[in-house]
This record gives sequence, C-alpha cells and structure tokens, in this order.
Amino acid sequence: MKKIVILISGRGSNMQAIVQAAQREQWAAEIAAVISNKPDAAGLQFAQSQGIPTVVVESKTFASRESFDLALQQEIDKIGADLVVLAGFMRILTPAFVQHYENRIINIHPSLLPSFVGLHTHQQALDAGVKLHGATVHFVTAELDHGPIIDQACIRVSNDDTADSLAQRLLEKEHIIYPRAVRLFVEDKLEVQGDRVLIHTDTSQF
Ligand code: GAR
Repeated sequence: MKKIVILISGRGSNMQAIVQAAQREQWAAEIAAVISNKPDAAGLQFAQSQGIPTVVVESKTFASRESFDLALQQEIDKIGADLVVLAGFMRILTPAFVQHYENRIINIHPSLLPSFVGLHTHQQALDAGVKLHGATVHFVTAELDHGPIIDQACIRVSNDDTADSLAQRLLEKEHIIYPRAVRLFVEDKLEVQGDRVLIHTDTSQF
C-alpha cells in the first residue's frame, strides 16, 4: 500500500479528483494526508470530509524558503510518503527539498511544457497565439516547471477564448490526466530514463 501525500494551496479540485479516483478505482494506495501552506485553503474541507488527515504548514510564518521547506519535509517524512503530489501548490521549492524526493514528487502545470512556465499560463498562451493549449503532469526537478513529462492533455484555443475560459476547460482535462498519472506511479508503471518517462502500459486508450 503506497502512501500518497498531496500538497495544496487553494481550491484543491485536482486533489479531489485524485482522492475520488483512488476510491472509485480502489487503488492499492492510501491518501495519507493533505498538506496546505495556507490555513484557509478550501480544499482542506473536502479532505476532512473524506476522513483524510490534514496538516497546515503556514508558509508566511517562516523567515526563509529553506526553513519552510524543512518543516514541510519533516511533516511529509513523519507520514512516510512514497509519493508527493503537488496539486495547485503555489510555492517554489528549494533544490534540497526537490532532491530529497527525487523521482517521487510530481506536479501538474497548466501549459504544454516546455512552453509557458511560471504564472498566468493561459494568458501566455493567448499572447503567443497558440492554437493548442494544455496541461502537463511531470516529475519535479530543481528547475521550475521542468522535469520528465509523464502525461499531457490539450484543448483547442478558439477566437473568443479568454484566460478564464481556457482555465475552466483545461481543468476538466487536468482532472483526467492527473489521477491517471498518479495511478500509473502507484502501479509502478513509470520509469524515468534521463529526461524521459517510459510508461509501461498500453496508452492507446488514453
Ligand atoms: C490547476 O489549474 C493547476 O494546474 C494549477 O493551479 C490550479 C490548481 O487548481 N497549478 C499551477 O499553476 C502550478 N504552477 P486546484 O487547486 O483546483 O487543483
């Protein structure tokens, strides 16, 4: 039984999709805790309603990035996580923290990486005039919004799209690819080979 810890900063809809998929599909995994860096993150309520332990490590009470990450790491390691899932966790993590969880920390980013790292990805996509926009699930490395890609999904950008409409449509896709990627990890079907991830399952139905 693998232990999963999910980190959130806000709404937590991706966390919710993962929790629900784990229950529905009876994964051999336990969502051992949901940790937020903000005490008022809405997602904490959903986790509590599911009987999932929640922890708050409030980032703004720490003097440095290093001290916050260390406190976070201690909480995660106390739980004994096999996998750390960043789900709308809006913090840049220190290289030491990322290194500690090498190949067992994953993130979802709302763009087709390597395009549009950082914030305001939907506006970045509109400004660039791309016709396909998307989301990426990837292993986390020290460089922001980089790391071996596990899965991606895309949507078509239409003439009247706004950053909000793109975000809304993309979220539906995120809720499909993120639980699926976590499940592949749980089932040991992901193999990191340098910058690439090999998926050891039939992906033709994805
Ligand atoms: C999601 O769209 C996720 O891709 C994005 O924040 C949103 C969180 O929504 N993540 C990032 O921008 C990370 N850089 P949620 O809290 O409802 O899952």
